[in-house]
Amino acid sequence: MFQEFYGFTATPFSRGLASSKLFAATGQEELKARLVYLVRERGIGVITGEVGSGKSTAVRAFVDGLDPTRYTVVYTANPLIGISGFYREVLSALGESIPRYKQQMVIALRACFDTLTNERKKTPVVIVDEAHLLDQRMLEELRLLMNVRMDSQFAAALILVGHTELRRTLRLSIHEAFWQRTSVRFHLQALDLTETGAYIRHQLEMAAYRGGALFSDGFVAKAYDYTKGIPRQINLVCTHALMAGCGEQKQVLDELVLRQVIKDLETST
Ligand SMILES: Nc1ncnc2c1ncn2[C@@H]1O[C@H](COP(=O)(O)OP(=O)(O)OP(=O)(O)O)[C@@H](O)[C@H]1O
Ligand SMILES: [Mg+2]
Repeated sequence: MFQEFYGFTATPFSRGLASSKLFAATGQEELKARLVYLVRERGIGVITGEVGSGKSTAVRAFVDGLDPTRYTVVYTANPLIGISGFYREVLSALGESIPRYKQQMVIALRACFDTLTNERKKTPVVIVDEAHLLDQRMLEELRLLMNVRMDSQFAAALILVGHTELRRTLRLSIHEAFWQRTSVRFHLQALDLTETGAYIRHQLEMAAYRGGALFSDGFVAKAYDYTKGIPRQINLVCTHALMAGCGEQKQVLDELVLRQVIKDLETST
């Protein structure tokens, strides 16, 4: 296995990195700062970015950094379960019993948000990941759920996280009422060339790599070209390059290794 061959103590470029060990990408740091502002003012935020650009990772790091005595966070990532499914999931995450009918669920959820806010002095934070999958009815339900006290304060902070098309959808006139109420709109950019190199080095560092420069400059430049700075894609090509390099007992992975990896990835089904 390449882990032993390269002397890694953990598998680099894998998904399970603890929040404290994540690479501090400029875009993700900016996103976290926007989210801090958003939950403080209990607003509605829309976070978009290309597939694999690091949205969920940044949101996870943000949530891990929140003070649990001040915020109660509910994270859902399955908008396809429909509105009743959504209410059920949120109620159950909040430790509430689940009423039979949808209207009662809305009442229960509002009461729970109210108790959290007024008695426990906490801000509920609802995060809906994969929000590009929300349909128009669900978006409208969410808006109404948040809307209390004649629009003067939202019942909870709401963060929608989704692919780039989410922003396009919300800008349609049919969603005007929702879009107007969003106070944070953030599009997460992919890494640039310099950050791609730093990201790759950071991954090796987190795996306690002790050898010399493992990925050549040519490799990094080509990896950036191919992945467009998308972390999930960088992980993919680097992992495959490590496997190939280990097979060929290489201590330096250069552009040629990457060319072969890309060829294999493009031709495999
Ligand atoms: N700051 C980071 N440090 C280390 N790894 C990261 C970082 N950001 C992203 N990654 C890696 O990139 C992968 C993809 O990130 P993530 O799942 O957050 O993207 P996403 O934008 O939510 O994708 P999708 O659009 O498919 O939901 C993660 O599994 C993780 O391995
Ligand atoms: Mg995601």
